[in-house]
Amino acid sequence: MTERIIDHPILGKMEDVNHVTFSFNNRVYKGLENESLAAALLANGIRTLRYQEESGSPRGIYCNIGHCYECRVTVNGQPGIRACITPLKEGMTVESSGQLKIKEKEV
Ligand code: FES
Repeated sequence: MTERIIDHPILGKMEDVNHVTFSFNNRVYKGLENESLAAALLANGIRTLRYQEESGSPRGIYCNIGHCYECRVTVNGQPGIRACITPLKEGMTVESSGQLKIKEKEV
């Protein structure tokens, strides 16, 4: 089994381990019910959760306790949800926010 965060400082200790499915950017993944959404994404190899609005640079988990807002995603159509303090539920639809800006090269 992949290493998981089972005792989160905000969400608490996971008591039961139930497997659930969710989607991120239209791809289906598996996770553990009530682990943080960020932990589930990380366990699936996903480190980039959004792109910075102005520069387009990738952002992901930073503080993991809800302070920095670097992990904001859209969950079930609601934007600005902090993935690090959001418990994973069956059928969640998650999308990254922002878009990667490709800078034009000067010729
Ligand atoms: S990683 Fe800092 S608020 Fe989620």
